[in-house]
Amino acid sequence: MTSSLRSLYTDPTRTLEVLREFIQQSDERQVIINWLKNALTQFVEAARKHEEVRVLGIGSGSGEVDRCVLHQLVSKYSRVYNRVIEPDKMQINSYRKLIRSDSELASVEFDFRQQTSDQYLESSCNNKSSSRFDIIHMIQVLYYVDDIENTILQLYDTHLNENGVMIIIHVSGSRAWYRFNKRYENTLPVFRHDNSTGLDIEAVLEKHHIKYQRTILPSYLIIDECFNKDSQVGRLVFDYITETNHTVDTAPNDLLQDLMQYLKSPDCSYLREDRRVFENDLDVFWIHK
Ligand SMILES: C[S@@+](CC[C@H](N)C(=O)[O-])C[C@H]1O[C@@H](n2cnc3c(N)ncnc32)[C@H](O)[C@@H]1O
Repeated sequence: MTSSLRSLYTDPTRTLEVLREFIQQSDERQVIINWLKNALTQFVEAARKHEEVRVLGIGSGSGEVDRCVLHQLVSKYSRVYNRVIEPDKMQINSYRKLIRSDSELASVEFDFRQQTSDQYLESSCNNKSSSRFDIIHMIQVLYYVDDIENTILQLYDTHLNENGVMIIIHVSGSRAWYRFNKRYENTLPVFRHDNSTGLDIEAVLEKHHIKYQRTILPSYLIIDECFNKDSQVGRLVFDYITETNHTVDTAPNDLLQDLMQYLKSPDCSYLREDRRVFENDLDVFWIHK
């Protein structure tokens, strides 16, 4: 790794700023929400009973995606229980604020746990009365866990109900993210498993003979501004892609030039309505037990 570079995640305030800009510049959130609406409608239709449904969200962030999941369930089930595992206090506060303003969710029972998934799994391992869930989702979160394989297995084996579904959304293993990560894996800072893609998830599911359906969701991230060193938006988007803190100020010039050139190449991006966009496609895993 180039020594002047620091992982983005060493700076939580900057990380939040970068994530917020990413959401502005990409269609990812809407793509995920549209897909979830459709998939969950089918899940609800297939369920025989509509009494209680129990949902476990791992790394739920500020709750916008969870809210969409819950909207699909509240009118169909007489009871909805939603447990949230999220280590960041600021995110939990935003989540609470979001649901307070949403009267449709007034009947949902929320249970917030300010924990990492590893802490949660450890505590539920010690606590034998831990309960099972009908829907477990891990949306753009498995990059941060200590052990992807163990997390998936434990949740599948001991937390998911029969006929339940586990939903994992991760950057695609057959698109630009894979190529980008491979090219810079020894140059950019590595934060635990953050170079993982859907291929790593698929390998775990195959190894353990867990049945799943994989879908690729096309998504994009506008990167025009990344080529203007004076643009604040560009700097934030750049940091999102490289997962590096203040890339433009800290990367050696030759690396910065190389990154810019590579981002413009067909390996990473294409033109969409006259804007250069990074191919931000996602792999979705629908794991039915
Ligand atoms: C990219 S955000 C995704 C948020 C949400 N799932 C969504 O799709 O909008 C990742 C979230 O995972 C949380 N996170 C980070 N490390 C975690 C861990 N070890 N266990 C659980 N969540 C974690 C972060 O605080 C953040 O809110």
